[in-house]
Amino acid sequence: MKEIKLEINIQYCQVDELGDEDQELVKVAKEATQNSYAKYSHFCVGAAIRLQDGRIMKGANQENAAFPSGLCAERTAIFAAQANYPELPIAALAIAAKNEYGFTGEPVTPCGACRQVILEIEDRYKHPVKIMLYGTHGVYVLKSIKDLMPLCFVDENMSK
Ligand code: THU
Repeated sequence: MKEIKLEINIQYCQVDELGDEDQELVKVAKEATQNSYAKYSHFCVGAAIRLQDGRIMKGANQENAAFPSGLCAERTAIFAAQANYPELPIAALAIAAKNEYGFTGEPVTPCGACRQVILEIEDRYKHPVKIMLYGTHGVYVLKSIKDLMPLCFVDENMSK
């Protein structure tokens, strides 16, 4: 038996090292935390997505007393974009989150279900989604969700 090592590439930088468009997207993701409904976890997550035409849409986590009925910030933004502008690929996504002390120091990372949804978007439009994960200490920048998903599952896996 041999070990297989998989490599992923993530950039780490400060917000002011990002380009203007991406700085704006992070700012909107931070603002979007104000629209979170996090009655149960008190963890307010904001997402901002930039569509291919430059349009920005916000998302925020929406919780429910019946826990599984709630939805993460990323998916509220992505599904709203898909429902309103299905012809436009998603170019970039930024996420920020606040706990009881304020914005998290470490970048917030998307849950497994959100990663799978972002992967489907990349597959649907054959276009990578640039991802910025904000923390007060710094920002992780990924060229594609695949950098968070080694050995990911897409529909072509079913015919291999
Ligand atoms: N949450 C998100 O909105 N996005 C993530 O990437 C991680 C988790 C939300 C779900 C729930 O409302 C709260 O954070 C605590 O898990």
